[in-house]
Amino acid sequence: MVIKRHGHSFIEIETNNWSILIDPFIKGNTDCDVNIEQIIQRPIAAICLTHGHSDHLGDTPQIAKATGCTVICEFGLAHYLTKELGLEKVIPCSIGGTIRQSEFSVKFVTAIHGNGIQSNNNPYKNAPAGLIIKTEGKTIYHAGDTALTLDMQLIGMLEQVELACLPIGDTFTMGVEDAVVATTFIKPKQVMPIHYNTRPVIKADTHHFAQRINEKTSSKPLIPAPWEPITL
Ligand code: NI
Ligand code: MN
Repeated sequence: MVIKRHGHSFIEIETNNWSILIDPFIKGNTDCDVNIEQIIQRPIAAICLTHGHSDHLGDTPQIAKATGCTVICEFGLAHYLTKELGLEKVIPCSIGGTIRQSEFSVKFVTAIHGNGIQSNNNPYKNAPAGLIIKTEGKTIYHAGDTALTLDMQLIGMLEQVELACLPIGDTFTMGVEDAVVATTFIKPKQVMPIHYNTRPVIKADTHHFAQRINEKTSSKPLIPAPWEPITL
C-alpha cells in the first residue's frame, strides 16, 4: 500500500486495486501535485472527510459526481452533501462509530475544532472528526483539524497505528509542540505532518518537527514532498 500526501491535509491511500481519498482539497491547495482530471481517473473506493471546511471538503462534490464514488462523513455534513449538493452515495457516521466497507473500515474519533460548513445561509452544523482507517492489515490515523486532546491517549491504548497524520500548522490546529505531545499519546510507528505551509498563517518548520519527534518520541517522522509516495 502506498500513501501520498497531495499537500495540506489531502491524503491518498492507494492499493493495487483502488484508492481512498481523505480531504481531497485540490483547487486552491498550493501544494497539490494532482489535478481533478487525474484524480477522477483513479478507481476510488471512497472519499472520507474529517469535516466540512472548504480546505477539507475541497473538491469532493465534483469528484463524487464524476466517479460515482461513496463519500463517508459525519452526519451533519452528510445531510448537507445529500440535501444541498445532491450527492447520492453518502454514508453518515457520528463520533465513536465505524463504517465497514469491503475494502476498509473507518472509525470517527474526537477532534476539537470548529463546526461550520462554509456555504451561504446553510443551517447545517458538522462535528469535526479524526479518522482511523484500517485496510490491508494496517491502521492509519488522520487527525483532521484538531487541538491536542487527551482523547488521543485512547488511540494509543486501543490501536496499533502504523501512520499518524497530524496537523502542525498552528492557528487553526495544533502546532509543532502539541503535535509532538500527541505523538507520545498515539504511539504510531510513523508520523507525518499535515495542514501546514499552504497559507502564511499556518507556516511550520518541518525540520524542527522531525527533530522534536526524534528527541521526544520513539516514532519515525516522515516529511514527504507532495509527489513522493510512502510505502507502508
Ligand atoms: Ni477546519
Ligand atoms: Mn483546515
